[in-house]
Amino acid sequence: MTVYPAPRVIPPDLYGKHDHDPTTKVIDTVAALRVRWSTLINRRPIRTRADDARFPVIVTDRVLVAQDQAVVDLGLRAPDGAALPRWAPGAHIDIELPSGRLRQYSLCGDPAETEEYRIAVRRIPQGSGGSIEVHDELPVGSEVMIRGPRNAFPFAPPGRGSSAKRLHFVAGGIGITPILAMARAADRLGIDWTLVYCGRSRETLPFLDQLAELRGHVLVRTDDEHGTPRATDLLDGADHDTAIYCCGPAPMTSALVAAVRTMPGIEFHSERFSPAPVVDGTAFEVELTSTGEVIAVGADQTMLDALLAVRPDQPYSCRQGFCRTCVVRVTDGTPDHRDGALTPAEHAAGVTLACVSRCAGKRLVLDL
Ligand code: FES
Repeated sequence: MTVYPAPRVIPPDLYGKHDHDPTTKVIDTVAALRVRWSTLINRRPIRTRADDARFPVIVTDRVLVAQDQAVVDLGLRAPDGAALPRWAPGAHIDIELPSGRLRQYSLCGDPAETEEYRIAVRRIPQGSGGSIEVHDELPVGSEVMIRGPRNAFPFAPPGRGSSAKRLHFVAGGIGITPILAMARAADRLGIDWTLVYCGRSRETLPFLDQLAELRGHVLVRTDDEHGTPRATDLLDGADHDTAIYCCGPAPMTSALVAAVRTMPGIEFHSERFSPAPVVDGTAFEVELTSTGEVIAVGADQTMLDALLAVRPDQPYSCRQGFCRTCVVRVTDGTPDHRDGALTPAEHAAGVTLACVSRCAGKRLVLDL
């Protein structure tokens, strides 16, 4: 049987409440020991979190997985065939594309397959160019550097970190990628699950064949057949003992967040395709203590984006204020904390998240 490592941090519910389940810690410890034992027995290299910050992989296969031919599914393996760092459903990797662009893609393969990662990418002609590059410039045999895996959308199945009894997934288009790995895990664990899978038309939806092989109930709901879905359509079958996992466009996720606020106690976890726009922003400055450099942050710009313009290596991941990757230390000035991840004590200690937080005055001084 596949052992899925439980997340170290059980995702909070919609109301920010954390459910601390001791069983999860035991499972995580056992899974970690299992990997170490496997290393000793097999004498094969297994990269760990300590040394996986950045490493090369080879594109070993490419498959078009939607009828409209616009979604490519890539297999990635280590050049020496070594086992890759383990991951759990919801995880993503950062890929350094040939142009230098850094893009994040959810892992959509099987966590039990230790020597291969799989990602799926929809070609977005009007996008920023990353998806076009993946489609056109990563043939089989090409080498790319990746970082991770990291998990900003952790999955805590019922009985393994969640008190829910069943799972309801909602996926919009290419948002199926993390959900596919979760559905596969739920299937293996024998958990009751349902999925509402939306898109413009069936031709645009990847992985319909793989979903058909799973035992959960999958409802495909396309705009051309059923019209634009309402939140109630997407939540059909979810009730108080259901944990909901949603990945898709921001309007869909926002509609579900609003709807589940009227369903007290329900677990709701989501990942958006893109960060929410800056709301009520005013311009300010950031000063770096190390160099004295002063960086202007526009009213509709995030502090992270302004930092990345001069410090391209500044770490980040979700860009939505929940993964804590972009944490920075403020030594002077008053931050306007807009995250949901740091505690009041951490805010008081002078840390903030650059992707969402701003300045309550004119200038923040940062010790990066
Ligand atoms: S990048 Fe994830 S919290 Fe800022």
